[in-house]
Amino acid sequence: MQLSINGATHEVDVEPDMPLLWVLRDELGMTGTKYGCGIAQCGACTVHIDGVATRSCQTAVEDVTGAITTIEGLGGGALHAVQQAWIEHQVAQCGYCQSGQIMQAASLLSEIPQPTDDEIDEAMWGNLCRCGTYPRIREAIRSAAAKLNGAAS
Ligand code: FES
Ligand code: FES
Repeated sequence: MQLSINGATHEVDVEPDMPLLWVLRDELGMTGTKYGCGIAQCGACTVHIDGVATRSCQTAVEDVTGAITTIEGLGGGALHAVQQAWIEHQVAQCGYCQSGQIMQAASLLSEIPQPTDDEIDEAMWGNLCRCGTYPRIREAIRSAAAKLNGAAS
């Protein structure tokens, strides 16, 4: 089957019910998307499908009809504003959850350009961080929102 990933078409020969996460990591070598729980409970595997944050561990590849974006392609060759904010705020600790956090945050800001703190919490609650980086994640999202809206952060 053919998949559109980060603007390129990829041909994969896999079982139709294989989780998209396995296809990305094991078939295509895109290891930026992480395996955490495998049961849609942690958010580590979050990618975008047509811009919508999606748990790739619980998405059968046969059900993917839209364009996939992974952390490798989020910025389209440059750093996305969310990635820049993550660096500026030194969000990551061990880093394991962070690509999922970034993908979730980027999806939030594409839907709600200037989210309130409650809207940030609502969007991000399903992305777990065992290192407890939540305060820096919120700060970085506020900063990225300000940048994307043309204001100084
Ligand atoms: S690995 Fe998919 S939500 Fe945890
Ligand atoms: S930075 Fe370690 S799990 Fe989130």
